Amino acid sequence: MKLGIIIGSTRDGRSTDRAAKWAATVAGTLDDVEVTTIDLREYDLPMFNEAISPQYNPERRTEGVVKQWLEALAAQDAVIVVTPEYNRSIPGVLKNAFDYVAYELDRKPVGIIAHGSANGAQAISHLRGIIPGMLAVSVPRAVFVPVAGGAFDESGVLNADLAKNPYGPAGALTAMLTDLVEYSKALATIRK
Ligand SMILES: Cc1cc2nc3c(=O)[nH]c(=O)nc-3n(C[C@H](O)[C@H](O)[C@H](O)COP(=O)(O)O)c2cc1C
Repeated sequence: MKLGIIIGSTRDGRSTDRAAKWAATVAGTLDDVEVTTIDLREYDLPMFNEAISPQYNPERRTEGVVKQWLEALAAQDAVIVVTPEYNRSIPGVLKNAFDYVAYELDRKPVGIIAHGSANGAQAISHLRGIIPGMLAVSVPRAVFVPVAGGAFDESGVLNADLAKNPYGPAGALTAMLTDLVEYSKALATIRK
């Protein structure tokens, strides 16, 4: 399974990259999982302003960073969105990136890792409304993490208290990865 891990914030001093490193390390230990980190900082997408909605524009031709972003998604069998909660939702930079998506995630499974003062709960809730708009499938399990700057060190190691909590992020990530592998296989059969 090709698994893309999207880093959903871009601000200076962000901490979402720590959570993404953690997820990439854990996912990378699984058999048959090939991880690619997709960092929105590398695309620097302009604000979406296309005249026609991407899914309704058969003449659409993309170029530059937009093309690269969409190709990065199209290459995956499944993705994990790692997002902070900003103002009770996901960051604008992440929503803007999703507004470019046409069919690149069509019938592919998406897992969510969110973090924030309230463990990213409202970011997860909003994302679960957005994901079907990209024709993708949100897997049932998600990973709720306290503010990532305190949860992980700079290299993405989960702190000891959270790591030993049986209801904490470590067990949730393992369970969500199992979902992603299973849904990826199932959805691949209907994409054929
Ligand atoms: C602009 C902004 C708005 C935020 N709004 C919320 C919020 O509504 N709910 C919440 O739980 N945390 C909120 N936070 C806290 C962030 O979710 C938390 O600090 C997160 O780890 C930041 O991720 P980042 O460092 O990758 O930007 C906000 C932080 C910022 C910068």
